[in-house]
Amino acid sequence: MSQIILITGATSGIGRHAALHLARQGHRVIATGRRRAALDSLRAEAGEHWVRCVPMDVTDLASIDAARTSVDQLTDGHGVDVLINNAGFGQGGAVLDVDPADVAAQYHTNVFGLLCVTRAFAPAMIGRGHGKIVNVSSLGGRLTLPMMGVYTSTKFAVEALSDALRIELAPLGVHVAVVQPGSIRTEFNQTMQGTTRKVERTGPWAAVYDHTDRVATAFEQYSSGPIVISRVLARIVNARRPRARYFAPFRESVLMILGTWLPTRVTDFVLARVFGVTSARPHAPALTQAWEAP
Ligand SMILES: NC(=O)c1ccc[n+]([C@@H]2O[C@H](COP(=O)([O-])OP(=O)(O)OC[C@H]3O[C@@H](n4cnc5c(N)ncnc54)[C@H](OP(=O)(O)O)[C@@H]3O)[C@@H](O)[C@H]2O)c1
Repeated sequence: MSQIILITGATSGIGRHAALHLARQGHRVIATGRRRAALDSLRAEAGEHWVRCVPMDVTDLASIDAARTSVDQLTDGHGVDVLINNAGFGQGGAVLDVDPADVAAQYHTNVFGLLCVTRAFAPAMIGRGHGKIVNVSSLGGRLTLPMMGVYTSTKFAVEALSDALRIELAPLGVHVAVVQPGSIRTEFNQTMQGTTRKVERTGPWAAVYDHTDRVATAFEQYSSGPIVISRVLARIVNARRPRARYFAPFRESVLMILGTWLPTRVTDFVLARVFGVTSARPHAPALTQAWEAP
C-alpha cells in the first residue's frame, strides 16, 4: 500500500538513494534537506514518480516548523505515515582532541536534530493511531570505534532514544525501528575526513591519524552501495510489524559480533591495533590547549 514517507538528509547518499527507491516502489516521498540544488536534481531524477522536496535543516527549529507546515499542505493535513530520520554526519578524531564546539555541533545534528524532527512529525501519527519512525543509527551505535568516539557516542544515544521511543509509542500504534548501516559508499567518508582534518593533530594521538586515514580509505574500498540500506528501509516500510533493529550489509556482521559478543578486553585489543592507537604518546600541553573553555 502506498505510504507517505518523509526522509531527512535526502540531498545525498543513503537518504537520496532511499527516496528514489521508495518512490519507484509507488510510495509518496517527501525528501528534505539543506541543499536546494541537490533537492532539485533529486526531483528531476524521480521523473513521474511522486517525490516532493521540502527544505529542512534538522538543527533549525524554525526550518523544522516551516517543513511541517509544508508537509501539512502537501498531505491535506494527514502528515506522514513513515518518518525516516537519516540526516547525520561523522565527527572524526580522538575524543579529547575534538573541540567542544564541534562535539556540540555533532550532537545538534545527529541527536537533538533527530529528536526535534520526531517531535514535529510524531503527533500526527499518534493522533491517527498508526505510523512508523525509522532512525538511521550505525554499526557504531553498537560498537564504539576509537578515533571516532564522538560520532559513535551520538549513535549510541540514537539507539537508547529509539529503544525508549519504541516502548513508549507502541501502545499508541507507532512502530520505531533502527537501521544500523556498516560501511556504505556515500559522501559520509569525505565529510568525516573533513571534520578529522580540522582536529588539532599535535596531541598524544598525532601519530595515530595517518593510520586511521589509511583505515578509512581501506574501509571505503570494501564498502557497499546505498542500495543495501534502501532495501532494508523498503522492508521496514512494507512490514506490518517491523523489527527493532536491522543491520546491513550482512557481510559486515562479523564486526557486529565483535562489538556485542566478545569480551570487552578482546574487542579493545583488536580495535587498538586496527586503528593504530597503540602509537599514542604523552603530549600534555596540546591536550590542555584543546580543552580550554569553549
Ligand atoms: N555511509 C556510511 O558508511 C554510514 C555508516 C553508518 C551510518 N551512516 C549514517 O547514515 C546517515 C546518512 O549518511 P550518508 O552515508 O548518506 O552520508 P552523506 O552522503 O554525507 O549524507 C548525509 C546527509 O545528511 C544531511 N545532513 C547533515 N546535516 C544536516 C542538517 N543539519 N540538516 C539536514 N540534513 C543534514 C546531509 O545534507 P547536506 O547535503 O545538506 O550536508 C546529507 O543529505 C547518517 O546518519 C550517517 O551517520 C552512514
